[in-house]
Amino acid sequence: MEYAVKTGGPSVRKTFGYYFWELLRRNPQASAAMNGAMRSASVAMTPAVTAAYKWSQFPVIADVGGGIGTQLVSILDASPGSKGILFDKPHLRAESISHDRMEAVISTSLCRQVQMPTYFVGSSMTGTMLPQQ
Ligand SMILES: C[S@@+](CC[C@H](N)C(=O)[O-])C[C@H]1O[C@@H](n2cnc3c(N)ncnc32)[C@H](O)[C@@H]1O
Repeated sequence: MEYAVKTGGPSVRKTFGYYFWELLRRNPQASAAMNGAMRSASVAMTPAVTAAYKWSQFPVIADVGGGIGTQLVSILDASPGSKGILFDKPHLRAESISHDRMEAVISTSLCRQVQMPTYFVGSSMTGTMLPQQ
């Protein structure tokens, strides 16, 4: 903490030698703990985010940095006409929730794979990029 406050640099990298997400990729136990924490945090937020927006107006919804897909699956369940794209790191694919209208994408060629107009669910990684309702 002291290093981060004094330098503005990432203390995880200084301590472990890797950036945070790389550290999780290399350590399945830490990755599972992180996903558990995200799942707990999502319990309260997921239904609120799903209810707060008219998602059904979009044919395709992508969650970038969507973790194991908790939020996107909730939205898809509430929007039977929409398809979902879950975009996250490769090592999370095995843990991702499955849904018959959701595709997990782990490459950087996301844009080339999407054939329809796509709107992104804002996340802590990307900020919000939704049009006004
Ligand atoms: C704070 S977590 C949020 C997870 C999810 N949105 C949720 O609320 O449960 C950030 C997510 O971004 C993913 N992430 C970080 N860097 C990424 C990258 N370069 N490409 C894709 N996903 C990335 C992480 O793997 C992690 O799942």
